[in-house]
Amino acid sequence: MTDTQADEDAEALLRIAVAAAGEAGRLLASWRGDERPEVVETKSSPTDVVTEMDRRSEALITSRIRAHRPGDAVLGEEGGQTAGGPAGGGSDGGRPGRVRWVVDPLDGTVNYLYGLFDWAVSIAAEVNGTVVAGVVEVPRRGETFTAVVGQGAWLHRGEARVALHCTSGVPLGQALVGTGFGYDSGRRRVQGEVIAALLPYIRDIRRGGSASVDLCSVAAGRLDAFFERGLNYWDFAAGGLIAREAGASVGGLAGKMESTSMAVAAGPGLYQELDTFLTRLNPEWDAQRSQERDG
Ligand code: IPD
Ligand code: CA
Ligand code: CA
Repeated sequence: MTDTQADEDAEALLRIAVAAAGEAGRLLASWRGDERPEVVETKSSPTDVVTEMDRRSEALITSRIRAHRPGDAVLGEEGGQTAGGPAGGGSDGGRPGRVRWVVDPLDGTVNYLYGLFDWAVSIAAEVNGTVVAGVVEVPRRGETFTAVVGQGAWLHRGEARVALHCTSGVPLGQALVGTGFGYDSGRRRVQGEVIAALLPYIRDIRRGGSASVDLCSVAAGRLDAFFERGLNYWDFAAGGLIAREAGASVGGLAGKMESTSMAVAAGPGLYQELDTFLTRLNPEWDAQRSQERDG
């Protein structure tokens, strides 16, 4: 495949993702809001909840993807990984194994439950294991963030769209830094210690409640940096591409790739400063602590 064909593919995948995310966003936003959706399950802890709406959103997204590309795999937060069926129908026949969709059907479920605005639908498309297109739909703000690899990141509001650029040249001491906390109390204790150590050396901290929105905020220059320990892949697959395409460095600590252990995003200079600071604090040490505890 030539580069041009690859680019065309990524754009076609993005169109499918944008349509599915828009529809799922409308479904989620259609909840009346005069009562909370029912919590149907808890996952890693009693505060890690799944509502009926998380499930309905994922079912809708999966069905829309399958309608276009029945041969593709889908990794969804609620449904896990499902392989595609026999190829057929889609724009390139939905060749099995080549494309995988990574879906968080509702990122920021706690915000959604409480009627706060920062929750999103996040969909990324991988080709041969690399994210090539991503969308983060933020219905309550009327904003859609998109990126295609190598083609920049965009914010769409209705018919208008603007190119996104992260902030640059912001020193750590002036940086507005977003972060998030996991659902496990032991991990949260360590995360609190890390924030306490960092807080005197930065402008301030924000805890938005949706990692995908946080990453888009870095892309849009609304945050200077973001880091979080212990995200799932679906939390950062689309937002990570959007931040990177807006000029941010996205990765882990000390030269590692972004991962479910640690994800960091910031303009290149600030990334280095934050990396040095956080590496010294060893924010991943809760894993060590639980190993010690479990003997
Ligand atoms: C959560 C949000 C939150 C982050 C958590 C995630 P969910 O996703 O992105 O901001 O701090 O680590 O699990 O559970 O609302 O999809
Ligand atoms: Ca999430
Ligand atoms: Ca979710």
